[in-house]
Amino acid sequence: MDIKLVQLKSCGDERGSLIALEEQANVPFKIKRVYYMFNTGENVRRGYHAHKTLKQVAIAVRGSCKFLLDDGSEKIEVTLNHPAQGLIIESFVWREMFDFSEDCVLMVLADQIYDESDYVRDYNDFLKMVEEK
Ligand code: TYD
Repeated sequence: MDIKLVQLKSCGDERGSLIALEEQANVPFKIKRVYYMFNTGENVRRGYHAHKTLKQVAIAVRGSCKFLLDDGSEKIEVTLNHPAQGLIIESFVWREMFDFSEDCVLMVLADQIYDESDYVRDYNDFLKMVEEK
């Protein structure tokens, strides 16, 4: 599986750091939705789903967390621990997020508004859908 971990350009100077996210530039789609997870409890593992069409970019803007990405044939673990790392998650990738640091703020940019019907929340259904693709 191709893991697309992009390095985001930081426009830092002596005042501090600044990273800009622009649709169809360093974010490879039109941004329809942004959400973020924070105050995630210790030992919480979440996600446990794939999307039929949704594309996303995940950035740990503070702290760190890990992703398990699974395309149905391969599982890869990725650590996000820097606000200049953007993890691109394509559709039909099962994801689980875990090992959140206490201070972790995980921001996600998405190319569609929230739509429960785009979720695949059963792992066996996911494997079947990947096979049938
Ligand atoms: P959920 O998708 O279950 O989180 P996880 O990433 O762990 O799978 O989302 C948690 C709750 O938040 C659920 O009730 C749906 C809601 N939610 C929204 O209302 N809008 C959103 O954009 C997202 C991602 C979730």
